[in-house]
Amino acid sequence: MTWNPAQYLKFAGPRLRPAVDLLSRIPVEAPETVYDLGCGAGQTVSLLGARFPAAQVTGIDSSAEMLQTAREAFPEHRFVAADIARFTAVPPAHLVFSNAALQWLPDHARLFPRLIASVRVGGVLAVQMPRVEDSPRIRHLREIASNPRWADRALPRIQPGPMAPEAYYDLLAPLTVTLDVWETEYLHALAGKDPVVEWSKGAGAGPVLAALTAEERKDFLARYTEAMRAAYPPRGDGTTLLPFRRLFIVAVRR
Ligand SMILES: C[S@@+](CC[C@H](N)C(=O)[O-])C[C@H]1O[C@@H](n2cnc3c(N)ncnc32)[C@H](O)[C@@H]1O
Repeated sequence: MTWNPAQYLKFAGPRLRPAVDLLSRIPVEAPETVYDLGCGAGQTVSLLGARFPAAQVTGIDSSAEMLQTAREAFPEHRFVAADIARFTAVPPAHLVFSNAALQWLPDHARLFPRLIASVRVGGVLAVQMPRVEDSPRIRHLREIASNPRWADRALPRIQPGPMAPEAYYDLLAPLTVTLDVWETEYLHALAGKDPVVEWSKGAGAGPVLAALTAEERKDFLARYTEAMRAAYPPRGDGTTLLPFRRLFIVAVRR
């Protein structure tokens, strides 16, 4: 099948764009076993299934809600509830893929060698993670979360974020025959009112807000909305631009 990212992008929002970009760099033609770690609502499993129609694609996620949505939307694919921290592919897979999920897990110095061990020799580990800890969106989230009123619950729920790109290179180079590590900064063009807050509610700020009482959440969101309006003012046409740096790793196992 011809791979046509533009066709997919007609239907995919800015969150799927990096998954499409990652897929386009995977140097395997016909993998038989593919795992999608942190598959969420299943869109990336569907992209993998379209790119590799002969593969057995399995989506792994720990969220029951995400898995239910994925199973309803894509009944033709397999979805399994599991924690990535304990994931091992037996036998090792042809491709282990993960888009925008591994940044939620700690201790990448241990996690990544374990993940590449779940890939067969000549197989591929392909990963994309946001690297946005120094962005105003996350800096303000952290700052507001540091308020003693809720810091004990809010701060531990902020994603730790990935290591520096060079650290993944050093970690994986001895285990791989080919290793491609790069970053892309997207300029997501968002529509609507307070779209950066809405974006964050569906990602980085979600677990933080879920840990607060209704009253605290209202207060937290008022502070965060004010900060986001100042940091990301809309352009003349009403669009809000959100610069978003993402780290990509494509590793072929030695
Ligand atoms: C931002 S979503 C990405 C979903 C999908 N990969 C995509 O690109 O649309 C991150 C997903 O990772 C899952 N996740 C986070 N930590 C996890 C863990 N330790 N084990 C399994 N899934 C995890 C979350 O439940 C969530 O569905």
